[in-house]
Amino acid sequence: MNQRKIVVLGTGGTLAGAAADPADNLGYRAGELPIATVLASVPALRGLPLESEEIARIDSKDMSFAVWRALARRCGELLARPDVAGIVIGHGTDTLEETAFFLQSVLAPAKPVVLTCAMRPATAIAPDGPQNLVDAVAVALTPGARGVVAVCAGTVHAARDVAKQHTYRLDAFTSGAAGPLGYVEEREVRLVRPWPAETARAGALERVLGAARWPRVEIVMSHAGADGALVDALLAQGVHGLVVAATGNGSVHADLEAALVRAQSGGVKVVRASRCAQGQVQDTPHDRLPHAGGLSPVKARIALLLELLA
Ligand code: SIN
Repeated sequence: MNQRKIVVLGTGGTLAGAAADPADNLGYRAGELPIATVLASVPALRGLPLESEEIARIDSKDMSFAVWRALARRCGELLARPDVAGIVIGHGTDTLEETAFFLQSVLAPAKPVVLTCAMRPATAIAPDGPQNLVDAVAVALTPGARGVVAVCAGTVHAARDVAKQHTYRLDAFTSGAAGPLGYVEEREVRLVRPWPAETARAGALERVLGAARWPRVEIVMSHAGADGALVDALLAQGVHGLVVAATGNGSVHADLEAALVRAQSGGVKVVRASRCAQGQVQDTPHDRLPHAGGLSPVKARIALLLELLA
């Protein structure tokens, strides 16, 4: 019987990054190496039932709807194949939480889709990518694993909760108050809470693949002196949705709020998310705009984009 395989999809990032000087952990270029080269450099992966494909080779700060669409399409095709046990995606750390949340929202797969990454380039004296890849493959091969998760520095995070929290350290991600799903230790997963079991938005995958253009949803921030001029400029450009990165429990500068309420009255969907790294926005008697609960501004933007596509 053929062994069920893991397909590793490359998108670039520091995991595939290269610097001229091995001691240089910052002056590298992300997405320099093909994913097949990165995988071949990890002896611990040899002999495992892996295939690889390159979807993109970018610095994830440059993530685009086109790459998301290609990823969603390919993941959908691969997940439908009985010979594929799961998928690992090599991704830059900078927008990993956005891609993870997007894929979980449109696929909510019953098999594992594991995003992994690196904080140091593949050419570093002590790169972290190889261990992260070994851990991610171990997660993807774990019986019962499901959903879109992120694996970094031995920790497994759910797509809904994961967020990059550090600019430099190898353990760059947090799951906030929800806590991680588990840990990977010597290729064994120690789960501390259940695998994600959310369902995908009905028809979401077909819509993201089929739409000629995705809606334009922008994020504006509430801060001292926020006067709403940006909102008016975006309305003039035909924006479809706005997320406000609000202060504290979803509070918004009065002048910015006035502009957002005007936008909402004009048919633009507006959602509040908090700038705070932890906690949920909760209802208050003064609310004039809906809120996104515990979603960060970047994830609230994806949720709103998918809502508008529907
Ligand atoms: C990127 O996000 O592609 C570059 C930074 C990183 O992967 O750590």
